[in-house]
Amino acid sequence: MTQLKGKKILVTGGAGFIGFHLTKKLLEMGADVTIYDNLSSGKIENVKDNPQANFVQGDILDLKKLCSLPKFDLIYHLAAQVVVPYSMENPTEDFETNAHGTLNVLEKARKDNAQLVFASSAAVYGNPTQLPTPEAYGFHPFSCYGLSKVVGEEYCEIYTLQYGLKITITRFANVYGSRCHGVINDFLDKLQKDPSKLEIIGTGQQSRDFVHASDVAEALVLAAGDNAVGKTFNLGFGETLKIIDLAKMMLDILGLTDKTEVSTTGQSWQGDIVTIWFDISKAKEELGWSPKIRFNDHLRTLIAERKMI
Ligand SMILES: NC(=O)c1ccc[n+]([C@@H]2O[C@H](COP(=O)([O-])OP(=O)(O)OC[C@H]3O[C@@H](n4cnc5c(N)ncnc54)[C@H](O)[C@@H]3O)[C@@H](O)[C@H]2O)c1
Repeated sequence: MTQLKGKKILVTGGAGFIGFHLTKKLLEMGADVTIYDNLSSGKIENVKDNPQANFVQGDILDLKKLCSLPKFDLIYHLAAQVVVPYSMENPTEDFETNAHGTLNVLEKARKDNAQLVFASSAAVYGNPTQLPTPEAYGFHPFSCYGLSKVVGEEYCEIYTLQYGLKITITRFANVYGSRCHGVINDFLDKLQKDPSKLEIIGTGQQSRDFVHASDVAEALVLAAGDNAVGKTFNLGFGETLKIIDLAKMMLDILGLTDKTEVSTTGQSWQGDIVTIWFDISKAKEELGWSPKIRFNDHLRTLIAERKMI
């Protein structure tokens, strides 16, 4: 296991959903963690619920402030604009946060000679013709968000090549778990408001590879190991589930199968990907990581957490 006890670690985006789970894991391992987050989509509760972490409210676009932080051994760069449709409506803002922001965090890593783990996304593959998709499939982004993540990855490559920084790139599929946002939360919000109907954006035939946040946090720890440096890893479960089937599973658990009318809008949002299904054999073989939490087993727990059953 990667030794992180006593290490000085910066988590950008640590007030966010995945940042919360990662920070919790790092603290359990005895690391000295500082969260840097502007709270644009992150929540102060996520910071407060990791009370041993230091918190600096700041923007990754504020290079001066970022570089005035103390020296770190390791940086997890998770802060980002994460919403695909928002990136299509606000491409320059998305680029600023995800591309320019990543460059600033790399500058902080260069100043400190710190190791860095970058959170990238399935969005860099766009709509892959190869399923399950391996890392080597390469960049075919389909949205401004996907492209801004590609730019972040490319800067990581240059900082590795030219400055010799130790960097690992991780690409996440659909991460879920307590405190998550996205399709699971959207459906539960809608059903909580009105259990008689559920509208799915798109055809419902889009499918996603769901991986639990605690499995991702474990992989991120391994991604800081010496054997991971200079490499890129897919972090998913290695299976795919259609959104319509997710809706059916949810209604079944809630006892709403015959009571809720399910409809689809047909048209999805601009930049939406049809299928996410990761080949995770590289992470299994080279990181020694295997996701443990199966979506079908865990959905009930998520629904119970919201006190809906
Ligand atoms: N959740 C997923 O399924 C998923 C999938 C693929 C990739 N990712 C990537 O994982 C990372 C974490 O995502 P998440 O789901 O936890 O999202 P999130 O929105 O919960 O977390 C992002 C965090 O970054 C912070 N942030 C945004 N802009 C900032 C800025 N300019 N300066 C400082 N902080 C800023 C936000 O306040 C938030 O706390 C992101 O890089 C995202 O692109 C997530």
